[in-house]
Amino acid sequence: EAPSLEARYEESFNIGAAVEPYQLDGIQGEVLKRHYSSIVAENVMKPINIQPEEGTFNFEEADKIVQFAKENDMELRFHTLIWHSQVPEWFFLDKNGNQMVEETDPKQREKNKKLLLKRLEKHIKTVVKRYKDDINSWDVVNEVIDEYAPNDRGLRESPWYQIAGDDYIKVAFETARKYAGEDAKLYINDYNTEVEPKRTYLYNLVTDLLEQGVPIDGVGHQSHIQIGWPSLQETEESINMFAELGLDNQITELDVSLYGWPPTPAYDTYEDIPAFEFERQADRYDQLFELYERLDDKISNVTFWGIADNHTWLDDRAEDYNNGVGKDAPFVFDIDYNVKPAYWEIID
Ligand code: XIL
Repeated sequence: EAPSLEARYEESFNIGAAVEPYQLDGIQGEVLKRHYSSIVAENVMKPINIQPEEGTFNFEEADKIVQFAKENDMELRFHTLIWHSQVPEWFFLDKNGNQMVEETDPKQREKNKKLLLKRLEKHIKTVVKRYKDDINSWDVVNEVIDEYAPNDRGLRESPWYQIAGDDYIKVAFETARKYAGEDAKLYINDYNTEVEPKRTYLYNLVTDLLEQGVPIDGVGHQSHIQIGWPSLQETEESINMFAELGLDNQITELDVSLYGWPPTPAYDTYEDIPAFEFERQADRYDQLFELYERLDDKISNVTFWGIADNHTWLDDRAEDYNNGVGKDAPFVFDIDYNVKPAYWEIID
């Protein structure tokens, strides 16, 4: 039988997987229990699912994941308190149903900012109070950096930013700390954290927030990566940069796509993917985990954005860019939950 992945890395960091509640049963549940020591909700803890309408909180699906983690003594990451995507529109509408981003009157803009921050605080307070004893690490804000943003700090000009300025980031962390307590680990999570100029934008923002006393404990590196990109050197530099600020690092959404960006051309089906692709991918995973292990005092969790190749958000992207037909295969378990070459490389 294949050795357990979590046991292999027990000394170094937790090994996690993103899940939907329906994946907790049957064979997927068994794979989770055997190979992973941490889980995170792929979707059900996002604002659109937790508070679809103002004041209406829906915890049913999220609770299933919390329950599974408890029963199996697994770590639980929370993803995500605040994000510009998968957030219900009501957050950004004023009391008359108008888009707050379009408001031009300065007085009304002040009021709108207050209203939005009040909503943000209420959301965070309600969620954090409910789960504070169950969650080890929280993604407080997600993807707040956008290197293409038209401001010189690379701050994403989401509705949050357009309505509340960068204060929303600070208020989010302070509110999370207030209700989660001193022991909670609070993360700023983003993608492409390895590459310039994004990592410098992120670094400057984090430094600035730390100087203001904003309670940040770590950086979440999503790590939606490719076989040949980004480089190991950039990856290592990024982890070291944040560690030098006294912060923890977590790899929060790891997947290694077979494709470049955009993912075209893509193989039509799983059966079309030739063995050499899995060998190339295995080399990449080998190098990556060698790096993570070497830096293990700076990394506390490595989470894959899924369990096995049968279910990955990358398929949507492969399909979108290839006229509706395309399959990716980013994990170390195949579509039948059997181990792949990449699995053996990271076990060895
Ligand atoms: C993705 C999920 O995997 C999809 O099921 C959903 O349709 C869209 O969101 N960065 C993130 C994750 O922080 O929340 C995203 O998850 C993937 C990119």
